[in-house]
Amino acid sequence: MADSVAQKRITLAWTGASGAPYGMRLLECLIEAQYQVYLLISSAARVVLATEHGIKLPAAPDAAQRALVKKLGCNPDLLVVCGKEDWFSPVASGSAAPKQMVVCPCSAGSVAAIAHGMSDNLIERAADVVIKEKGQLLLVVRETPFSTIHLGNMYQLSQMGVTIMPAAPAFYHQPQTIDDMINFMVARVLDHLGIDQQLMERWGYNSQTTQ
Ligand SMILES: Cc1cc2nc3c(=O)[nH]c(=O)nc-3n(C[C@H](O)[C@H](O)[C@H](O)COP(=O)(O)O)c2cc1C
Repeated sequence: MADSVAQKRITLAWTGASGAPYGMRLLECLIEAQYQVYLLISSAARVVLATEHGIKLPAAPDAAQRALVKKLGCNPDLLVVCGKEDWFSPVASGSAAPKQMVVCPCSAGSVAAIAHGMSDNLIERAADVVIKEKGQLLLVVRETPFSTIHLGNMYQLSQMGVTIMPAAPAFYHQPQTIDDMINFMVARVLDHLGIDQQLMERWGYNSQTTQ
């Protein structure tokens, strides 16, 4: 990796929940913040990305990496796309994995697999590694309504220190566009990661009073 590339590293997983625009915006922000991003993309996430964003990503990780680098116009060293069974990737081992990981969007299926330590693909394994190494794992979960199974799994994960951030944009900042709503969610994720963001004004800094 070139010297100019910062050593900040993070794992980002896109799974097959609705909310592909959140995942894409988050990737843009992490790259802009000079993070090296290990990007894991489930097969269902590629279907959702095509449906919601009109982006048809190739299945092969290196081709997907090239397509995303072209789209983002970023330094290729900042984006590593890993295959679903790339067990030799750094994210698969506690000895090398980044300490922070976000699954955004996160499907109910991936919530279940992560809650139960399935580790059957690289997304599940990477999350399992972050949990066992006591790193920071954020799940931006999207489903409605939540079943008792979903709620039980999220409760268990929360007890393990995993942050559950439902993809639930607010209206108190008076969003005018879909972009405003995407930015709201992504800003909250960046806040939790400790990454400076200008996507959204902070509550109370420019507030209207109710009286
Ligand atoms: C367009 C589309 C939208 C979907 N939205 C959701 C969703 O919001 N939440 C969810 O849990 N699953 C959703 N699914 C179903 C998941 O993609 C499916 O359960 C898949 O097996 C999840 O696999 P993954 O977690 O490995 O990506 C959606 C599927 C499609 C094609």
